[in-house]
Amino acid sequence: MLSTEERSAKERLIVALDVATSDEATRIVEELRSEVGAFKIGLQLFTAAGADFVRGLTSAGHRVFLDLKFHDIPNTVAKASVEAARLGVWMINVHALGGSEMMRRAFGNVADVCEAEGLLRPKMIAVTLLTSSDDSTLPEIGIAGSAESLVVRLADLANSSGLDGVVASAKEAQQIKRSLKETFMIVTPGIRPVGATNNDQKRVITPGGAVAMGSTHLVVGRPILEAADRVAAARSIVSEISLAMVS
Ligand code: C5P
Repeated sequence: MLSTEERSAKERLIVALDVATSDEATRIVEELRSEVGAFKIGLQLFTAAGADFVRGLTSAGHRVFLDLKFHDIPNTVAKASVEAARLGVWMINVHALGGSEMMRRAFGNVADVCEAEGLLRPKMIAVTLLTSSDDSTLPEIGIAGSAESLVVRLADLANSSGLDGVVASAKEAQQIKRSLKETFMIVTPGIRPVGATNNDQKRVITPGGAVAMGSTHLVVGRPILEAADRVAAARSIVSEISLAMVS
């Protein structure tokens, strides 16, 4: 029996289903269904397995973060977001770089349709700046200033456009927390438990470190997917989150 703390620590762990087939993803979901809070479906699995696969997971009661990072004209993003909501997912995301009108329209249309159709409104979060972009990438695309100040500015814009949160590194989470409300969700990837390999992630942080810096949800892929014992790997991350929540 899990304590309230462990249950809420578990809710904060999102496993990235970064695999190529629905069969492989289904095996992982079956293995981890009672160990984690949600499963993230990104561009790779969505392109390979499609919307029916997503619907299958949500109708079986799984919480799904559909990580498709919409970025297009406001009308298109709003309509795509509504279709994502109709799949029954728990969370979706858009690029904050699409601007406030794009975010506001998407949020408003999703909220209206969910109310009219009796659906649970998905959490809507914004990608600020991809972690693959840094201070050297910005001048290339004509943006002046540091990546860090841009991230904070885009998080503010997402918040004032009505969104529920952002995807951000733990370091950025600390900055964002200073200016935004307590309930604003900060979803952090690049998590590596102590002793794990970094893979291709340049800036990594432990699960406990991220929670201590203000991340509300953690996205973990390879440290769990490639573990010899996935359940044990997930449990150990949950207990690290739980410890950081009480300290
Ligand atoms: O395997 P790993 O734990 O590095 O996976 C992290 C997940 O988070 C991947 O699905 C990756 O695409 C995603 N992600 C990321 N960095 C971002 C945004 C998303 O690593 N800035």
